[in-house]
Amino acid sequence: MAGPPSPSFIFGNFHALVADSSLTSQWRRQFGRNFRFRLLFGRVELHTSDIKAVARIVTNGSIYNKTPSNLNFARDLLGNGLLSVEGEEHKRQRRIMNPAFAPMQIRALTEVYVEKAIHLRDVWAHQVADNPDGVVLDVSGWFRRVTLAVIGQAGFNYEFNALASEEEKEESNPLNKAFNDLQHSPQSQLYARFRTVQAVFPALKILPVPGSQVMSQARAVMRAISGQIISTGKAEVVAADSKEETPFMSKRDVISLLLKSNLSADVPETHRMSDRDMAAQIPTLLFAGQETTSAVISWTLHVMSLQPRVQTKLRDELLSLDTDNPTTEELNGLPYLECVVRETLRLYPPVPYTQRVATQDDVLPLAEPWMDLRGEVHENLLVPKGQILHVPIRAVNTDPEIWGPDALEFVPERWDALPEAISAIPGVYAHLLTFFGGTHNCIGYRFALLEIKAILYAVVRAFEFTPAIPKERIVPQALGLIHRPAVVGEDKSQISGLPLVVRAYNHEA
Ligand code: HEM
Repeated sequence: MAGPPSPSFIFGNFHALVADSSLTSQWRRQFGRNFRFRLLFGRVELHTSDIKAVARIVTNGSIYNKTPSNLNFARDLLGNGLLSVEGEEHKRQRRIMNPAFAPMQIRALTEVYVEKAIHLRDVWAHQVADNPDGVVLDVSGWFRRVTLAVIGQAGFNYEFNALASEEEKEESNPLNKAFNDLQHSPQSQLYARFRTVQAVFPALKILPVPGSQVMSQARAVMRAISGQIISTGKAEVVAADSKEETPFMSKRDVISLLLKSNLSADVPETHRMSDRDMAAQIPTLLFAGQETTSAVISWTLHVMSLQPRVQTKLRDELLSLDTDNPTTEELNGLPYLECVVRETLRLYPPVPYTQRVATQDDVLPLAEPWMDLRGEVHENLLVPKGQILHVPIRAVNTDPEIWGPDALEFVPERWDALPEAISAIPGVYAHLLTFFGGTHNCIGYRFALLEIKAILYAVVRAFEFTPAIPKERIVPQALGLIHRPAVVGEDKSQISGLPLVVRAYNHEA
């Protein structure tokens, strides 16, 4: 099978891929939908964006598992949470956790999303108040803070004080600091690369590589705080048992719901989680739910700063509601907001690809035959046991043969008249692969959607956004599987962030 040359036996195409997330799109143009490239130490990864093949991979979770290296990477950082487990253990954890993410539970969290969104709006209002021409803000840094505040409160009833001033924040948030050192320091990309290599070859974990110390500190803090949240929560559930109604029983965050059902006498033993696994869900929610959601909100403002027409149309719709505190139904009843959010999720998926490994020999059906290097045409793809597959989420979301010739453009109106072909995409939401599908589909997608809408609602009603730097300098930056906006510096280095000019929106003008 065709594919790019491998520049090094040890690293294969790994470094190039981390440095440039658009590389697989270039290779697709060059080699077609099916090609291979090399990973660390010569391992071959098979890339297919053929929609029939992708559908089989996504929906056959028992054959196509998460790769051992991805599971190792997650387990090292987060413990034995939902992102780190496969097979029966995954099924068990997922069955226990699903009810906490049901539509009714998520609806009850809208108040938290709206409250935090209004807090962010007020902080910005203060910052821009004396500047009629606006001020340049790193909006993605702020969205990271607000999504941190949300996941803390709605995920595990923890107050990060994420929207507080710098001094207060540092002191009161060891968990935030631990996570930031790992994910947002200038070295975080380098650290993540070393962690990836160690996840592929666990024997290398004995080596003190860059980031080892930061990692073990972060892990220790995350474990200590998560353990503390679980033991306090458990004690409160037990105490609440003897009373009619206590504040705990009205807590609706994900972990409190899990604790309540875990300790309930009606729950069979097989539906319970150990305290250790329960504690591992806390950094798991933080890791899976914060950076992803904040990246989507940032990209939405980025594209809207470049397309004032879309921005104005959205603001007009949002201002048609006469409230600062929208309900779930009100947020979900705004059609253009829905179109804008879907379009950002389509074009800027924060997890643009994922990987799977075949646990047995398999045959992938194809929508289109492929030709090998000898010119022979094949109707399907033979996949040997152990083969690693690259599942290109963004490529499927932007395939012109599925979405039409304008597939790479941001056009929210496309959601009013969708092509028939998108029904072949096996995504859990809106025929997008953004939240994946099958057994590992994103458990938090309803949580994310409402949170994104609530934050956009608050800030787009109150402010106007224009570019602060040329759009070419804003690129997606990879940190493990998550891609977030970053600014390219003079020396070509990338720093995560998204500067925009933010100006108060004046209704009357
Ligand atoms: C726009 C925001 C989000 C996006 C695009 C996103 C995307 C994804 C994707 C692609 C996966 C599958 C990864 C794989 O199996 O390789 C996933 C899984 C997961 N997501 Fe999300 N996610 C988002 C927000 C959230 C939020 C807010 C939470 C929690 C509150 C969350 C929790 C999880 C968890 C726990 C899993 C593992 C599910 C499993 O394996 O059963 N995500 N997400």
